[in-house]
Amino acid sequence: MLKYFTSGESHGEALVGFLSGLPAGLEVSLDFVNHELWRRQQGYGRGGRMKIERDTARVLSGVRHGKTIASPIAVLIENRDWKNWQEQLPVEHGNPELHKRVASPRPGHADLAGALKYNFPEARYVLERASARETTARVAIGALAKMLLRELGIEVLSHVVAIGGAQVSCEVAWEKIVASCGREEVLLNCADSEAEAHMKAEVDKVLRTGDSVGGVFEVVAHNVPPGLGTYVQWDERLDAQLAAAIMSLQAVKAVEIGAGVTAAYSPGSAVHDEIGYEGGSRFTRFSRAHNNAGGIEGGISNGQEVRVRGYLKPISTLRRPLQSVDLATREPVKAAYERSDVCVVPAAGVAGEAMVALTLARCALEKFGGDSMTETCRNFQGYLEQLKRF
Ligand SMILES: Cc1cc2nc3c(=O)[nH]c(=O)nc-3n(C[C@H](O)[C@H](O)[C@H](O)COP(=O)(O)O)c2cc1C
Repeated sequence: MLKYFTSGESHGEALVGFLSGLPAGLEVSLDFVNHELWRRQQGYGRGGRMKIERDTARVLSGVRHGKTIASPIAVLIENRDWKNWQEQLPVEHGNPELHKRVASPRPGHADLAGALKYNFPEARYVLERASARETTARVAIGALAKMLLRELGIEVLSHVVAIGGAQVSCEVAWEKIVASCGREEVLLNCADSEAEAHMKAEVDKVLRTGDSVGGVFEVVAHNVPPGLGTYVQWDERLDAQLAAAIMSLQAVKAVEIGAGVTAAYSPGSAVHDEIGYEGGSRFTRFSRAHNNAGGIEGGISNGQEVRVRGYLKPISTLRRPLQSVDLATREPVKAAYERSDVCVVPAAGVAGEAMVALTLARCALEKFGGDSMTETCRNFQGYLEQLKRF
């Protein structure tokens, strides 16, 4: 069973991602992990922090001579900013006068709810862990999941569908997403350059006004075989697992599989993907008229591309702060301001890829098993032959 979790705080010494359950013998490329970390740091509308941090991964365990050895993997990413915070956030008692309090909780952040829950007099420790800096560790272990999926021919990428009021109007083909993700300079990772210009204008508007903006990313998993996930238990459904994985990302407030939202407002005849034969796909000779289901029916992948969207609320930290209350005096004050991004949709898409990759890798290992890559790939090939003979 593939298990994963993360540790680390926004201004602590480092972030660590843990991943257990990968078969032995999987080739690991640190360059690939670092490239994924770089992708998470890109995008127009990011704050100053992205300029001081160039994230790099250090593998502490589980990989030797370039391959997994079946033991749990720990990946560490240093916070380069730590040198400026050692005295403000020491592990030992330190000097309380140097602590950086977050005295007025920011609406839209975990600040107030977290302070109430953990009985903190102010929100510094809440902010430190609730911050989306944590997604760095997810992207690092997600890169390992992507490497496993690649061995099975599955690729996972994302693109931006909307920022504020600007959006792409139709389904974007896989080849266009590959081209967009391959760019060396990332603006907003939108595959349609005209829509991307409108999206940039949305970001410019909030940069001017001290506001912030949200949007929608879509993660696409290409070449997913039919048969991952199942309807037999509620928590084994692939759509349920993907929804939880994407919803777990900071600022994501809605998840859509395929054309789920418009489907709810449309008649069945316009939604369901009619079935044909002899059209052919990589896995079987069954074909589909379109892919409104986003590659999942009855909680099982159906052999079409898996498409899942994350809807992000606007960033909660505003340069023109919203109203709040001082936690010490209870007097009305403006919310605290910490250096912040104004738009993170492309980066959230990269974190979304990591979550989709981890979810698909877990489902694939549940289906194909294997303690070594030789065994996993042999089982996978056997299943592909079974599908061809169906
Ligand atoms: C990649 C990424 C980067 C983020 N950067 C910021 C940021 O710089 N400033 C901010 O206020 N919120 C940022 N957020 C969103 C907050 O982390 C999030 O809104 C907050 O922790 C509250 O959680 P919730 O929105 O899920 O309720 C970011 C989210 C993501 C996915």
